[in-house]
Amino acid sequence: MKLSKKVALILVLAFLVTIAGGCGGSKPAPAPAPAPAPEKPKEILIGANFELSGNVATFGISAVNAIEMAFAEINAGGGVNGIPLKLVKVDNKSDTGEATNVATKLITQDKVVALLGPVTSTNVLGAVPVATQYKVPLITPTGTNPKITVDDSGKTREWAFRTCFIDPFQGFVGANFAINTLKAKTAAIFIEKNSDYAKGLAEVFEKTFTEKGGKIVAKEYFVTEDKDFRATLTKIKAANPDVLYVPSYYEQDGLIAKQARELGYTKPIVGADGWDSEKLLQIAGAKALQEVYFTNHYSPQDTDPKLVKFVENYKAKYGSVPDALAALGYDAAYILADAIKRAGAPEPAKIKDALAATKGFVGVTGSVSIDDKHNPVKGAVIITFDKDGKQIFKEKVNP
Ligand code: PHE
Repeated sequence: MKLSKKVALILVLAFLVTIAGGCGGSKPAPAPAPAPAPEKPKEILIGANFELSGNVATFGISAVNAIEMAFAEINAGGGVNGIPLKLVKVDNKSDTGEATNVATKLITQDKVVALLGPVTSTNVLGAVPVATQYKVPLITPTGTNPKITVDDSGKTREWAFRTCFIDPFQGFVGANFAINTLKAKTAAIFIEKNSDYAKGLAEVFEKTFTEKGGKIVAKEYFVTEDKDFRATLTKIKAANPDVLYVPSYYEQDGLIAKQARELGYTKPIVGADGWDSEKLLQIAGAKALQEVYFTNHYSPQDTDPKLVKFVENYKAKYGSVPDALAALGYDAAYILADAIKRAGAPEPAKIKDALAATKGFVGVTGSVSIDDKHNPVKGAVIITFDKDGKQIFKEKVNP
């Protein structure tokens, strides 16, 4: 009773105040009531544009698994500024045109405030113009091609970010490893013609390798759809390179390794992060993976306590050891959550500014400070394989 009387009194007072204001009496009109605080959203919608089927499906699946794990942890701890995160995930089928469409759908229909993904550089390049057009920040956890965050004139793309190292570093590390550790004097490069990622890496590898006194004795090309590489591999083998550099993704890498070994090429093959898939062993077989080395973002054998806990939790949840895609996806999810928290409100422009201001964020793949080109500076690892085709950590390279 008491309470409802009070409520009635407040209502009457409010009514009188309204009337007084509305009638515009002789007294000066009271200051307008402050605009009502915008209603706190029930959830923060984040778009996931990933390769969940098609040519590089294991990449997208790993990344999304880890992002979902991170979101579940964040939400269990109360969400971001008290609001839970919700992932809206759509399969881009490992296709660049689809990656563009998915980005458009996530922004215009689902109204997400930020985008995670895609994984591969060419697909990310298909989504960045959409993020730019609609002014929604996009973070790729894994796309390493420099053009993702910087346009041809050298200007930073305002709405595009990444949380992994870039290919000029990765290709440099690969070439140095070939020269210094493998003692290679000659190299062949086998390049996927329609991949921005492969072309970018091949260029840096060649430049670094030749600058350090090495010689490129063969440079050959293929397209993504190719399945039989024997004719070109025969030519490459005839050039007798000390190493063969193959910077593509696991479907092609696996077949190339298998066929190169069948043709009797026994010397080292060096690759890049695109070799990192649990399907690689199935495709290539353990024998073909002997003397294969590739540059990557992290090793699950690292003993950093934060990383050990992540590897354990991921294994418990998904029944497999997390690959680099998972580790990078996990970090990207936390970096985004941290930016939304600092932004104060889940609004795209504020999130974008907070992302650009990310400094010293400690994730499972290292510390991330976003530079003026929207890239972090991070170390790399070299991975090789044991006799059963299981990945083993070879060495760590700091930037
Ligand atoms: N760096 C690759 C690209 O840009 C994607 C990738 C990242 C693949 C990490 C495997 C592991 O296309």
